[in-house]
Amino acid sequence: MKVAVTGGAGFIGSHLADALTLDNEVLIIDHLSSGKKENINPKAKYIKKDIREETDLSGVETVFHLAADPNVRSSAETPEITFAMNVKGTFSVLESCRKNDVKHIVFASTSTVYGEAPPPTSEDYPCRPISNYGASKVAGEAFISSYCSTYGMKGTIMRFANIFGERSGHGIMFDFYHKLKKNPEHMEILGDGKQDKSYLHVSDAVSAVLLAWKKTKNYDVFNVGSTETANVDRIANLVAKNMGLSPSFAYTGTRQGWKGDVPAMLLDCSRLRSLGWNHEISFEKGVERYIKWLSANY
Ligand SMILES: NC(=O)c1ccc[n+]([C@@H]2O[C@H](COP(=O)([O-])OP(=O)(O)OC[C@H]3O[C@@H](n4cnc5c(N)ncnc54)[C@H](O)[C@@H]3O)[C@@H](O)[C@H]2O)c1
Repeated sequence: MKVAVTGGAGFIGSHLADALTLDNEVLIIDHLSSGKKENINPKAKYIKKDIREETDLSGVETVFHLAADPNVRSSAETPEITFAMNVKGTFSVLESCRKNDVKHIVFASTSTVYGEAPPPTSEDYPCRPISNYGASKVAGEAFISSYCSTYGMKGTIMRFANIFGERSGHGIMFDFYHKLKKNPEHMEILGDGKQDKSYLHVSDAVSAVLLAWKKTKNYDVFNVGSTETANVDRIANLVAKNMGLSPSFAYTGTRQGWKGDVPAMLLDCSRLRSLGWNHEISFEKGVERYIKWLSANY
């Protein structure tokens, strides 16, 4: 089957493309704003292109749409970039799908669509994002829903918790690793250290996407996360331990780490689990693997 992966040179997209190349002809579309050439699977065909421009998707059956600006924090400072990349970008991908008769779109959405919601949050909980990033993903989901209904496409919405692992170039563990490399004795933590969220290793996120893709009937929404949460203090200690360090910590003291930060998040993933999915990599094992990879690459 011929499939396309937007953002296929990025963190999650490159792992997904690796898995897809085992059984499919894969086209990767990425303009390398944060993605890396070395992440691109050599078995895939690669087009360097901005998804805000329409793309020739002739013969493509499914588009896995992952290209986006994934940064919650910067979405408060430069909302126009978030809007252009994530809303206009998704709209443009949908237009390319419609014009090329693509049958199915799989979309990388996020837990931040819910805003501050009581955990564990199910897919039926209302979306009230508190960040521009979360809002941009709600808009993307809404257009996908409409295109599926209007033009007879299938849609799979993956609402990811925090995904981490090898090749990730952003997120809390990445930040802590770099801060501690700069100063192994002491680290400033944004917030009060108590923000408590769900983290999932990227290999488990990929297995979830592949299963949901196969099982989608029409337009289906899936939460994707782990069953446990980790607070910021635990993450800081675990990153330091895996680097062989015992630093002191100082806190900026606020409940949120930054504007738009959701302080507590745990997703109810029973819908995905009812299809047979389960995560396999424990949080501690995942962090160990990721810090090993960071040490070898930075
Ligand atoms: N990493 C997470 O914790 C997480 C959680 C929830 C949702 N997501 C979503 O998953 C997707 C992948 O995230 P990631 O963490 O792998 O991020 P990433 O930054 O590593 O990957 C995004 C990729 O998209 C490309 N890209 C961005 N804008 C583009 C454009 N206009 N045209 C072409 N290419 C473009 C980048 O070069 C990059 O390779 C994103 O949609 C993100 O919002 C990620």
